Amino acid sequence: MTQHHQFDAIIVGGGGAGLMAALHTSKVANVAVVSKLYPTRSHTGAAQGGIAAALGNMEPDSWEWHMYDTVKGGDYLVDQDAAEFLARDAIDAVLELEHMGLPFDRTPDGKIEQRRFGGHTANFGEKAVMRACKAADRTGHMILQTLYQQCIKQKVNFFNEFFVTDLIVQDNICRGMVAIEMATSELHVFHAKAVMIASGGFGKMFQVTSNAHTLTGDPVAAVYRRGLPLEDMEFFQFHPTGIYKMGILLSEAARGEGAVFLNNDGERFMERYAPTLKDLAPRDMASRFIYQEIRAGRGIGGKDYVHMDFRPETINRLKSGPGGTEVTREHMEKSLPDIIEFVRVYMGLDPMTQPVPIQPTAHYAMGGIPTDVDARALADKSTVVAGLYAAGECACVSVHGANRLGTNSLVDIVVFGRRGGKHMAEFCKQAALAPLPADPEKDTAAEFDRIRNSKGTERAAVIRSDLQKLMMNNVGVYRNAADMQKAIDGVRELKARYAHVKIDDTGKLWNTDALENFELGCLLDLAEVTAVAALRRTESRGAHAREDYQARDDAHWLNHSMASLARGSWGVGVTGGEIRFDNKPVTITKFQPKERKY
Ligand code: FUM
Repeated sequence: MTQHHQFDAIIVGGGGAGLMAALHTSKVANVAVVSKLYPTRSHTGAAQGGIAAALGNMEPDSWEWHMYDTVKGGDYLVDQDAAEFLARDAIDAVLELEHMGLPFDRTPDGKIEQRRFGGHTANFGEKAVMRACKAADRTGHMILQTLYQQCIKQKVNFFNEFFVTDLIVQDNICRGMVAIEMATSELHVFHAKAVMIASGGFGKMFQVTSNAHTLTGDPVAAVYRRGLPLEDMEFFQFHPTGIYKMGILLSEAARGEGAVFLNNDGERFMERYAPTLKDLAPRDMASRFIYQEIRAGRGIGGKDYVHMDFRPETINRLKSGPGGTEVTREHMEKSLPDIIEFVRVYMGLDPMTQPVPIQPTAHYAMGGIPTDVDARALADKSTVVAGLYAAGECACVSVHGANRLGTNSLVDIVVFGRRGGKHMAEFCKQAALAPLPADPEKDTAAEFDRIRNSKGTERAAVIRSDLQKLMMNNVGVYRNAADMQKAIDGVRELKARYAHVKIDDTGKLWNTDALENFELGCLLDLAEVTAVAALRRTESRGAHAREDYQARDDAHWLNHSMASLARGSWGVGVTGGEIRFDNKPVTITKFQPKERKY
């Protein structure tokens, strides 16, 4: 039996964006958060190093510099009206979090302490600036706990461990969504005036990733399956410092505190590539420079990794600490406790006495569901889908353009979660509840029947692993037409195999076998559009670095790509259907595109 629920607003995702939105919408409306996870397990909790806000607590700073760094960091594909909101509102949003009780690190005189991060500068690129507000290297964890506590206090409704499968949208009006209760496999239809998708990223399409196992983009794929566009899917960020082979994130905060990259010759090679910011150059560049060293045979022992060295003795010898100051072991252990522990536990190394093997790890989707600056989802270049919102990594507003700066993801979730939450509150006050179509859950029910009753011989785990290797090897840091075509063909072959997947568990209780199968279908759909969009963009910009088109081409490509799927059937991860593209102009207000030098 399908269960039915009615709320003013439904928020899909219990991470920072969803909870911030829930707090603001629930001031006037009846709100439910529907989350695949228990909310405090959301991936916001894995964000480590900080949240940028030009508070100027450590040294002079301004929101205009933050906006400029964001635009330049994004290789000028950033919509500058949105970047202005990001940089201005960051200050208020951080103070709002402080007033909610978030335990930020403090300066001796009690202000929020800040540290350096990649691409954040003073005076329009002059030198690195301390802008990242932080709680050691557990900033996202603290944000998540703080927001969840506030939501509980405000009596927000939660449906935890509910897996969203479909969006109910008709005549360009969003009317709700469909979910499956993970414990029982029961279907639930949520009827609402407004739905916000705040479900995070989909980095599990890559083999080496900092993303949690749950980041399979199911709600983003649901939006795409319903014919709505996805924006800038070709831009996927690789964070330079994943633990070698495992991809586990070692925060950029380490370099904020003075860590350096070293090649096999013991050379601090970033000085050659980025003479001003050195190891604090933005992530797209740092990841490429690491691969350039590896390709030149200067990986450690000739292998495909370099070292990140954050031993205090190295930092003090190279004077790479903030402002050239000396750092102590006590300071490093207090500032970076989690990542020091990760290296000890996962690598069996002590980063206070040994350099750490690192390699770029798939980290963040710059693309996603297109929105305006109030987090309203778009049906095309400019038409709003009534009642549909998106915020955080799953959305593309676009404040990150072709490459996100470190710490701007946490800014994004609180600033646009809040803007979207406030807008939904006003929307819910005046909007009527649009009627539901008949049997909105029928496609989901049919899909799970197909999955449970399949007689095929393929295995989801094998297809997922093949997909992750295919995307890592062919749509990674460096790209070219032949490799990307290989990825597209390969994903389509995997989709054909996916039609014949068999599961072992045909029961209803906690059927993770069926759910993982459904997740794989979503990943296949999102990987296909990522690879097709990447092949289409014949230039290099930000995280999209093509060996066959090495220059940025503003004359042809200073625009966002909007990809929509046209196909007759609804099926998850099915083959066929044309991916149609449109271009959307970039909003430029203050900063004309220039060459990026750091
Ligand atoms: O390196 C980090 O701490 C990650 C931060 C981010 O992705 O913004």
